[in-house]
Amino acid sequence: MEIIEVQDYEEMSQKAAQIIISKVIHNPEMVIGFATGGTPKGTYRHLIEDHQKNGTSYSRISSVNLDEYAGLEANSPNSYRYYMNHSLFNHLDINMDQTHVPNGTAKQLEEECRRYDGLIDELGGVDLQILGMGVNGHIGFNEPGTSFTSPTHVVELAESTRKANARYFESLEDVPTHAVTMGIGTIMKSKHILLLVSGNEKAEALANLQKGAVTEEVPATILNHHPQVTVIADKQALSQTLTRR
Ligand code: PGA
Repeated sequence: MEIIEVQDYEEMSQKAAQIIISKVIHNPEMVIGFATGGTPKGTYRHLIEDHQKNGTSYSRISSVNLDEYAGLEANSPNSYRYYMNHSLFNHLDINMDQTHVPNGTAKQLEEECRRYDGLIDELGGVDLQILGMGVNGHIGFNEPGTSFTSPTHVVELAESTRKANARYFESLEDVPTHAVTMGIGTIMKSKHILLLVSGNEKAEALANLQKGAVTEEVPATILNHHPQVTVIADKQALSQTLTRR
């Protein structure tokens, strides 16, 4: 696992964008796995800026997203499809038909999960998966205790996750109770994982990851078993750990 230490959120976002851009230039048909949440927002801003200034093209890439709330329509401002369209896709030359987010309103969510894993396989797998991490070490919506071999599945969200995400909703009651998420097994099949970590509240989870002990109680620790992980973490996130460059 390579750890890139940066000063702050802004530098993390710049570095992450640089890595993504150079990969896209090198392989214009790559499959990118995108994440939502507060962490990658700055990275997406830099991708848009670069696209506008330098013309990096996304017209031939495909994308898959990690997760989606159950029950939210794509045009609901809190759905992850809406987030992706507005925070990134609408500002790039990406082919919308080649962007994929789990359908949280599918009648048969279990079937949707199987469809999604099949789709990822058909695309030839994810070349670069961008990941954030929850305060409890969750990745995607894989909460503590999730099997490391899990495929895409329906999850009941942890109370701490619903509370952390309530800031985007009118009230805690409006936060969906369930979601569809790529499983940890699905995430681990990605060829390269780019984990972004910023802020004090993530320091304990990051320290657990760096200790090297792999436990289902901290889902992100499985990344110690992945052959190609790049972590970009800022000073605050690294405040509970010794860093190696
Ligand atoms: P955040 O969420 O980027 O909004 O901190 C990360 C996560 O919960 O996976």
